[in-house]
Amino acid sequence: MPRYQIEGGRPLVGTVTISGAKNAAVAIIPATLLVSGPCRIENVPDISDVHILLEILEKMGAKVTRLPNDTVEIDCTAVTCTEPDPELVRRIRASYYLLGALLGRFGKARVALPGGCNFAPRPIDQHIKGFEALGAQVEETDTYVDAVGPQGLRGGRVNLDVVSVGATINIIIAAALVPGQTIIENAAKEPHIVDLANFLNTMGARISGAGTDVIKIRGVKALRGGFYSIIPDQIEAGTYMAAVAAVGGNVLVKNVIPKHMDCISAKLREMGARVTEYDDAIRVEKVRRLRRATVKTMPYPGFPTDMQGQIGVCMALAEGVSRITESIYETRFFAYSEEFRAMGATIQVAGKTATITGTERLHGATVQAHDLRAGAALVIAGLAAQGETFVENIHYIERGYENLVGKLTALGACIRRVEDE
Ligand code: EPU
Repeated sequence: MPRYQIEGGRPLVGTVTISGAKNAAVAIIPATLLVSGPCRIENVPDISDVHILLEILEKMGAKVTRLPNDTVEIDCTAVTCTEPDPELVRRIRASYYLLGALLGRFGKARVALPGGCNFAPRPIDQHIKGFEALGAQVEETDTYVDAVGPQGLRGGRVNLDVVSVGATINIIIAAALVPGQTIIENAAKEPHIVDLANFLNTMGARISGAGTDVIKIRGVKALRGGFYSIIPDQIEAGTYMAAVAAVGGNVLVKNVIPKHMDCISAKLREMGARVTEYDDAIRVEKVRRLRRATVKTMPYPGFPTDMQGQIGVCMALAEGVSRITESIYETRFFAYSEEFRAMGATIQVAGKTATITGTERLHGATVQAHDLRAGAALVIAGLAAQGETFVENIHYIERGYENLVGKLTALGACIRRVEDE
């Protein structure tokens, strides 16, 4: 199995360019099922979650053309299949968006339950609540979800019981072609929700309010092909920013939307890093040992749960006692706390809160990635640690970080992807 071999202790210096947002791409790609004609999409990250989604669409009859510079052309006009390959569907989380897309286009879908990172129970009851508000009948078994709109779907109103990124996206996708108006209340506000709405609107949809907690979708008869460029990845950018703060150095993080980074920039500044914003870039410099901090993860615009582990490494190396309270996925600490300890961190988890007592130095160890973001945190810890670290299970990391080894190497890190005989 491939793994990363890291020799820690080298500062990160130079420029890194952020790729397109994974969580926008994995929503926009299934949404192309709604479109008649080719969609040319730029800034599609070259990551395994995207490869799998494209393969699923191809197997369903879509024409997928991979072009240079992270550009993909997808034409789903010829698709008639409403049951995507279950083996592929089970390999990623975002395959649940195929439900909304197929339901919206064909009025029926049979999709295997999604897989992906399993750091916590991840129910889809709110997605189903949304589909039912559109008039669908949905049956969920242990392995499949079947959704059908026997009388045809119509616009409806849904008030989400929890702020869910996935449910908000799935309902937008399902409703884009459905006659009448759909209203989502208590919607999530993440940048990738706005990006999905912008993509669909570019293709002719009528979606308003994305980025606020009330989203209105006025169904249109058809969407036509066009060109779209995906936003930069907030979490990839945040990961490199946290890496510089933890490891040391001075890096210009290019191709970011600084507004999306506010919460992360503010926290790193509070901890003592120097963070300078430009129009579409952010410079992070480590100028002193980091200070302790308190973080509570929240839906956007709060501090993202997907940055929990990465800021955790900063805390592990900061002066004093820091705290993280996780309010989205309570069990997420367990994806990395044991591994952090193996590298010399002091971290105690009690319910929703982790208490991290900073140390001057971590040391290298062999550790396992248990999910994508925890894996990224372990890479940062390895870069900051003294000695050699092996990060195993890197297929999790390769789900969501384009060319991680190449980008870090260009910043002066000593990291290699090695495969044992
Ligand atoms: N929830 C429900 N019912 C639902 C849906 C969600 O109870 O039907 C709960 C969840 O259990 C959780 C909360 O609502 O406690 C929020 O979950 P959400 O639906 O927002 O998460 P998601 O859509 O499954 C996406 C990202 C995750 C990210 C979360 C939170 C994608 C493909 N995944 O997941 O990203 O952690 O939002 O921001 O967009 C990652 O990129 O590594 C990743 C895990």
